[in-house]
Amino acid sequence: MRGVAVFDAYGTLFDTEGLVTRAEAEAPGHGQALVGLWRAKQLEYTWLRSLLDRYRDFWAVTRDALEFACEAAGLHLSAEARDRLMSAWLEVPAFPDAAPALSDFTARGVRCCVFSNGTRQMLQSAAASSGLNRYLDAVLSVDDGVRVYKPHPAAYEFVCHSLGVPREEVLFVSSNGFDVAGAASYGFPTAWVNRRGLPWERLGVTPHRVVSSLGELVAGWV
Ligand code: LAC
Repeated sequence: MRGVAVFDAYGTLFDTEGLVTRAEAEAPGHGQALVGLWRAKQLEYTWLRSLLDRYRDFWAVTRDALEFACEAAGLHLSAEARDRLMSAWLEVPAFPDAAPALSDFTARGVRCCVFSNGTRQMLQSAAASSGLNRYLDAVLSVDDGVRVYKPHPAAYEFVCHSLGVPREEVLFVSSNGFDVAGAASYGFPTAWVNRRGLPWERLGVTPHRVVSSLGELVAGWV
């Protein structure tokens, strides 16, 4: 097997639930709820900013979402506490199945890349701290050029342009249903890693493969 596998970052390779421990330390008893709202608002702001044509990078969007989530939850965190929560994104842990799957893919000649809304600094830092960088051929951010968020078709086009490969040769892998829908709509072969057993999004497109873990994906493709 050869080819290119492009992985989404947050929720797919990196476990944003891993931020809960850090949030719990700053706001005891509220960590889970705070991170849930923070992540939901972060994604919502990417979609809204793309519709509004008001791009801000993902670091700034993530900070805006944190401010909103704290206020909505009635949490009065100090500026230092909010800075510490932001810095958790630079060390967000990898899912346990991420390194073995990337290792298996690369061992079989598959070029593994990341494509994410995250800024280059956020992605490179998380890839380095988790050790996933050793398997990655390229780390692509919407911030590197296209400056519009997934699932806009221009974002996926940026992947083909950056890697110099036609869309049908890319396997696009994501746990985020909206991202898989965007990638499939653009024309990528897709795999949805449905880690949480969610129903499929009603957006008029279907993933080519559905698996529950990255390990299952490797087993089925190699
Ligand atoms: C990303 C978001 C979708 O990594 O999680 O691009």
